[in-house]
Amino acid sequence: MISDITKARFAKEVAKYPADQKQSAVMACLSIVQQELGYVSAESEQVVADYLGMAPIAVHEVTTFYNMYNQRPVGKYKLNVCTNLPCQLRGGQQALHHCEKKLGVSMGETTADGLFTLQQSECLGACADAPALLVNDRSMCSFMSNEKIDALVDGIRAAEGK
Ligand code: FES
Repeated sequence: MISDITKARFAKEVAKYPADQKQSAVMACLSIVQQELGYVSAESEQVVADYLGMAPIAVHEVTTFYNMYNQRPVGKYKLNVCTNLPCQLRGGQQALHHCEKKLGVSMGETTADGLFTLQQSECLGACADAPALLVNDRSMCSFMSNEKIDALVDGIRAAEGK
């Protein structure tokens, strides 16, 4: 269930903490799982729980609290559109709706070609740039007008030859 390489990566994270506090590595271990499998399944949560000596529900609480953890397979490009209040006041909901229209999916869904997953997000810490959108948990996109959303999606599609 857990490869030697994964075990070695877990051990490296656990070694950063005192021996009696290895649970502190839970977020890092979940990130490793996601890097290797693309998402964190219930089985993976159990593996992490067993490895760290935690209750599976405690691991699940971490997975579900942070929306950077995928609880199911996602597309190659995950678009998180912020709909928290400051973004809402500057068109966050409209940006989400435009993404739905542009991609032909509803919030939470993945496009048929597996290229995009569209998600609603809590505050991304970029309220001054509202409406904000985060690509693959890494690339922040600011002031996402309909035109900028179109350019982003079209650019990715072109780069992927779709
Ligand atoms: Fe959208 Fe803060 S509310 S980034």
